[in-house]
Amino acid sequence: MFSRLRDKNLRVQTPEEPLVTERVPRHVAIIMDGNGRWAKAHGMPRNEGHRQGKENLRRIVEACVEFGVQILTIYAFSTENWNRPPAEIGALMTILELVLDQEVEKLHKNGVQVRHIGTLEGVAPRLQEKIRLACDYTRNNTRLILNVAFNYGGRDEIVRAVRHIIEDGVPAQEVMEALINRYLFTGDLPDPDLIIRTSGELRVSNFLIWQGAYSEYYVTPTYWPDFDKDELRKALIAYSMRKRRFGRTDEQIESSES
Ligand code: IPE
Ligand code: IPE
Ligand code: MG
Repeated sequence: MFSRLRDKNLRVQTPEEPLVTERVPRHVAIIMDGNGRWAKAHGMPRNEGHRQGKENLRRIVEACVEFGVQILTIYAFSTENWNRPPAEIGALMTILELVLDQEVEKLHKNGVQVRHIGTLEGVAPRLQEKIRLACDYTRNNTRLILNVAFNYGGRDEIVRAVRHIIEDGVPAQEVMEALINRYLFTGDLPDPDLIIRTSGELRVSNFLIWQGAYSEYYVTPTYWPDFDKDELRKALIAYSMRKRRFGRTDEQIESSES
């Protein structure tokens, strides 16, 4: 159950109140995990879990807009998810297509800019086209960037970046962190401040392995279809109480704040 939580200034918050915290993460990334286990727990087929996950995504996007998150990156399909049974892969593709058919207009009206990270290689041409159209249609929106990691793998992303750097003939002495950043799918976006994983697994599963070097992690046992607005609020409050040191000492942080 949602317990009363306190932010840094010890203001007590309840689920009914608007989010009160002085530090909302600018970039939140979510590993949306646990659809299959949610379905099993409800005596349903795995694909029903994925459908419920799709419904939940809409709610969480809306909550992020409301809470003032600027960038939401969601892990929708990994390069390793091709290892799943073909019928499940087919269902996941169909669900993404449904999202694109049914949600893009609403996302557009809400000021959401849709982006894709990952590759479209091996993806059905019709789905590729819908992804491109959604990104193009919403490209001038500024309220929330919804970055969809689809057919995405962190190692694949780094391999592709290295290839492009070599193809561009970049001299070795110019290869620096900032340059590598620019060659990643996330390009101009800041690193995620907070990475949430639902369903309790304590691993990164090839998600944002470069960009997440200094992200705060938050893992909840809640399965993705049940991860609602109050669960998100809990994660954001937990983040607001973390101390990000970036290698420094507490004393250094205190003196830079005063
Ligand atoms: C996350 O739920 C959805 C995708 C990976 C596409 P899972 O399908 O991984 O659910 P579990 O982990 O088997 O419960
Ligand atoms: C990670 O979840 C990928 C997505 C959420 C899309 P998985 O369920 O595929 O991860 P593993 O295989 O358990 O590590
Ligand atoms: Mg899983």
